[in-house]
Amino acid sequence: PDRISIWRGTGTEVLRYRAEVLRGRQDAVRPSSSYLGPTLELKRGERVRIHFVNRTGDPSIVHWHGMIVPDRADGHPRHAVGPGGEYVYEFTVRNPAGTYLYHPHPHGFTGKQVYYGLAGLLIVREREERAYGLPGPEHELSLVIQDRRVGRDNQFVFKRTMMDDMNGVLGDTVLVNGVPDAAFKVSPRSYRLRLANVSNARIYKLAWSDGRPMRVIATDNGLLSSAEGVQTRPYVVLAPFERVELLEDFGERRGGAEVALVSRAFSGLEMMDGMMGGMMGGMMGRGMGGMMGGMRGPGQGDELLVARFTVSTEAHARSEALRLPEPVRIPHEGKHAIYTQLAFRHMRGFFNGRRFEMEAVADDERLPLNEGTVWTFSNDGPGMPMPHPIHIHGVRFRVLERSGGDIPEELREGLIDAGYKDTFLIFPDERVRVHVMPTEPGLFMYHCHNLEHEDGGMMRNCLFG
Ligand code: C2O
Ligand code: CU
Ligand code: CU
Repeated sequence: PDRISIWRGTGTEVLRYRAEVLRGRQDAVRPSSSYLGPTLELKRGERVRIHFVNRTGDPSIVHWHGMIVPDRADGHPRHAVGPGGEYVYEFTVRNPAGTYLYHPHPHGFTGKQVYYGLAGLLIVREREERAYGLPGPEHELSLVIQDRRVGRDNQFVFKRTMMDDMNGVLGDTVLVNGVPDAAFKVSPRSYRLRLANVSNARIYKLAWSDGRPMRVIATDNGLLSSAEGVQTRPYVVLAPFERVELLEDFGERRGGAEVALVSRAFSGLEMMDGMMGGMMGGMMGRGMGGMMGGMRGPGQGDELLVARFTVSTEAHARSEALRLPEPVRIPHEGKHAIYTQLAFRHMRGFFNGRRFEMEAVADDERLPLNEGTVWTFSNDGPGMPMPHPIHIHGVRFRVLERSGGDIPEELREGLIDAGYKDTFLIFPDERVRVHVMPTEPGLFMYHCHNLEHEDGGMMRNCLFG
């Protein structure tokens, strides 16, 4: 398709976001030119009020992914409002400068609503950023990467089959900021590239087509510290709702050069695409199988073109030296520990054998406030071996250690566990230990961020304090 229709007036109409800063800043909302939500630009330390009007035909509520906000403002599904309903958020921006997201979070409808465009970027800026030697806002590019199935009438097709409940919905077309065949013209100089995977289920292995390395300067929750330094990798693995920022000097390429951001092929995570997929197709008979077959595009791990960049022929602009911020000291390491076993069986995900219940909290889901907890996730429960992107609300955490597990060799180098994270990918049979320190009291949640797994109930509450 050469054009993706803007999604309008279908009952799944775009929610209206109106962000206002209490002291009256008018420039916080940058409208999107596609079906995506506008980009919200907030400043660290400012207080914001956001009016959310639900113009979908389903219950909805918006969550500020990666942001540490009071539980009332976190978009928990228990706060979902019906069609026509409104919800007002108020919070102080406490997160450091970085690339965050927002998306709906009503239980059971998240995948569908994100798919149809209810998601957007939330960029936090702070004055200190100028001291880091980063390219300014004029030399930033944000890429929201998504895959969609595009139907004959150029509309998105979201129909969940049994296969989708297992794998998550994979699309046949890659969109960047809502457009297919995305192309950017860049000057021969340094850029700050914000990359966000806002796909329901697809994992990308992002690389430059000319083989140049990726220089990662930030992960989910802001810039890496000077202690960690720039992470230079041949490729970067980005699971659903993870983000990275790259520092890319296009001036190191010849003027007129063309380079593409691609997702390289990898194997080992095909999940149900192979033998089991065939079996399921057979079991479901012609009707569903045909529908599935007709709409299925590239599987998990297939090579994809994400975006093209053309370098202009101006003179190369020298870039400033990068000075990453000093590492933050964690005041309380803490001795508290909890353990969560992941499982996927009968098409559903489980945490310690449990599925989502609106208000339920088990003992192993309580974390003390202002004290560190080591949270161990072990992806070795009974059922199907699957990778899961795990996300925790209301905190930013550190990945302490990965052990065991079937990490495909061809993905290992691209896992970026440095910095503060809010989402991490866990592989089959793997064990990942993270260090979290909740600072906001209340009821938050943790879940698989494969949106079909999440909607299927692979989500639980966690209680802080
Ligand atoms: Cu990005 Cu609970 O979600
Ligand atoms: Cu979140
Ligand atoms: Cu999952």
